[in-house]
Amino acid sequence: MSNLHDLLTLETSPIDESYVEKLTALLKSGIPATYTIEQVAAHEAGKDDVEDTGSNTTPLHVLIRSLPDELSREENLVVLKLMDVLFEYGAGWNFLDYENKSPGDLLFERGMKNGNALYERVVDAGVSAELLLRKLNDDIEFLDEEDLEDPEDTEETEEPSEDPEASTESLESAGDTAEHQDTYLKADLEYTANALITKDNKDGVMMDWESDIMRLARDSMFKNATSDSVVLNIGFGMGIIDRFIQERQPAQHYICEAHPDVLKHMRDEGWFEKPNVVVLEGRWQDTLSTLLDDGSVFFDAIYYDTFSEHYSDMLDLYDTIVGLIKPEGLFSFFNGLGADRQVCYDVYKKVVEMDVANYGMKCNFTTIPLPRDPNWEDVRRSYFACDRYYHPEIRFA
Ligand SMILES: C[S@@+](CC[C@H](N)C(=O)[O-])C[C@H]1O[C@@H](n2cnc3c(N)ncnc32)[C@H](O)[C@@H]1O
Repeated sequence: MSNLHDLLTLETSPIDESYVEKLTALLKSGIPATYTIEQVAAHEAGKDDVEDTGSNTTPLHVLIRSLPDELSREENLVVLKLMDVLFEYGAGWNFLDYENKSPGDLLFERGMKNGNALYERVVDAGVSAELLLRKLNDDIEFLDEEDLEDPEDTEETEEPSEDPEASTESLESAGDTAEHQDTYLKADLEYTANALITKDNKDGVMMDWESDIMRLARDSMFKNATSDSVVLNIGFGMGIIDRFIQERQPAQHYICEAHPDVLKHMRDEGWFEKPNVVVLEGRWQDTLSTLLDDGSVFFDAIYYDTFSEHYSDMLDLYDTIVGLIKPEGLFSFFNGLGADRQVCYDVYKKVVEMDVANYGMKCNFTTIPLPRDPNWEDVRRSYFACDRYYHPEIRFA
């Protein structure tokens, strides 16, 4: 252990301002706030290079793991200050430790969850980091396991493939249907009893455990419905939400779908013949801009749920839908943003609120509990690991 890690084990009590002074002095002396226990061990063993164990137990992890069960109000404020200082000196909010846990995961597990000042501090650090990253990269990546950081790679965010771990990852993912839309659109799909999956690598495109979420989304879309409602669903998948939408008999029900196998399935199921259905064949990036240019249709509600797209696509989508939605219209989407970790899910909840506010829109989230373990049997990897769902309803403010 280094002096920095030692200090953050919080051995001496009470936890008072002297901790803040000592921490600031250590960081000022040049010890990086991202100095990991693994690096300390390597240096102690006389190694120049830290073996890439994939684990990065940072001072922030040590601090959070060392928190006593009970903290007085004053101590809580001191811990917040310690976190502020660590973040100020470049601590990462999303590094993974020897148990594959980020600082936010550790707080959450210890019951310091949403609304707790320490947890919210990590979430805010995540939001700032994401916005900064977007400015630096002029782009934003969907936050997932690949994006959880390695302190050694903080300079390499623009070139994730230079991360030794990511380079094997990128070889594996060259044919990754969940990551690359081109690959996905060429992949064969298969409808199983409860899911739509990619045939070869069994990526779950859509699963029927989402049915309640789809019903909730449909209800939002028709909250202010009139008999001549015109709605748009982007991404047909299993057609779950489209069947729910049909129950409300909208005047016009547009469906935008890009994958040839899904379009074939829609043809087989008679969707092209339904009198109130208009199928937009192709990627929304192409078909919606044509609608926008025509200026002939405006929607009461738009729902978005695609596959193999990233948050950067959603940022582009915002530009499009603001021109297609009626002033009192609603926009909603399947919210799996960062949902493989609760803290990432919370970061993205805030990022979405901030992004839509730039368009004069307000996002209200309704939280619904989810079954702990949806059935992931047929699919290669789960894409939702949280016990709750944040359902977004976005309207012009
Ligand atoms: C998760 S599924 C949608 C599930 C749907 N909400 C349901 O209730 O069954 C995603 C769908 O979006 C389609 N898709 C993916 N990218 C698209 C794009 N850029 N434009 C249009 N559709 C797309 C996929 O082919 C797939 O059918």
